[in-house]
Amino acid sequence: MAKIGILTGGGDCPGLNAVIRGVVKSAVGRGWEVVGIEDGFDGFLHPEKCRPLGLEEVRGILPRGGTILGTSNRGNPFAFPIMREGKVELVDVSDEVRSRILQLGLTALIVVGGDGSLKIAQEMMRRGVPIVGVPKTIDNDLLETDVTFGYNTALETATDALDKLHSTAESHHRVMVLEVMGRYAGWIALESGIAGGADVILIPEIPYDIDRIRDAIIARCKRGRRFSVVVVAEGAYPKGGNRVLKEAAGGKSVVERLGGVGEALSRELGGVLEMDIRVTVLGHLQRGGTPSTFDRCIGSRFGVKAVELVEAGAFGQMVCLKGRHITSVSIEDAVRSLNLIDPSGEMVRHAEALGIMLGR
Ligand code: F6P
Repeated sequence: MAKIGILTGGGDCPGLNAVIRGVVKSAVGRGWEVVGIEDGFDGFLHPEKCRPLGLEEVRGILPRGGTILGTSNRGNPFAFPIMREGKVELVDVSDEVRSRILQLGLTALIVVGGDGSLKIAQEMMRRGVPIVGVPKTIDNDLLETDVTFGYNTALETATDALDKLHSTAESHHRVMVLEVMGRYAGWIALESGIAGGADVILIPEIPYDIDRIRDAIIARCKRGRRFSVVVVAEGAYPKGGNRVLKEAAGGKSVVERLGGVGEALSRELGGVLEMDIRVTVLGHLQRGGTPSTFDRCIGSRFGVKAVELVEAGAFGQMVCLKGRHITSVSIEDAVRSLNLIDPSGEMVRHAEALGIMLGR
């Protein structure tokens, strides 16, 4: 009989509970025990945060957003932030985490996470912890999987926001700027922009030229379209310029926090356009809410597949979607670099063929 641990790490996203439920159902079906670790890897440092998960604990969680286990995007065991004399210091607590895993008698650990958590998982693997990964993130920036779960729901939220902005943009003859998440990848912006009929889409993979954007908006006005809808990914930046940060890395936040490009763009456009400009920052709404049918389905199947991988002893593997099949790849390959949009790829070409301006 196996005893497996499961944790959810990094920023939350819709579909995490579907994965947890999928893992518990298929593990319990095999007569295995499951231990839920709360708040990502941090949970290993607190005995009360490691608790048994059975069928009762996962009942009714499938349509719920968030994660019943809690998560953290600060708990890297190799650079764990602690306060010393009023200052944040990063210490290595990985040995403590490893001993706790041994003490709990875990035969394997399932890490449900994005790029950051899976890199940590890979390091823990090197220290002898048997791990299987499940790709999570609204940003869709992991390699070796057609899609990460959570992304589809975030896209729906962004597309819905664009539909709503369209009508008010048209009524007031305004430029409406929608800032969406995605970190260094422009997937949410590009796909929601295509689906929501945006006029301008700005993504980190294509630094934008403000004059070209102005010209496109003015050209629309001349055609009688006296409004424009612009989607800007939080990681987008002007040619020769820099990303807009809310917080640099190293302070309270271990990684840099992006945000504010919508306002920066509006200021720039305000200097070259007569029209009224308004900015909406969609923010964490993209991470919340009930998961879409797609995310519930692949989340559940990812959970089942993760248990199958544990059973097969396929440690160091990450569950993934290829076409219509759930299969697996090495975690190492998945976190090699980020899955970014190809500026000369098919999706960008199609967007431009639809008359959408991509800032170049
Ligand atoms: O990685 C998911 C994500 O939502 C990014 O799109 C965004 O930049 C970041 O997390 C926000 O993180 P936080 O929840 O720490 O503000």
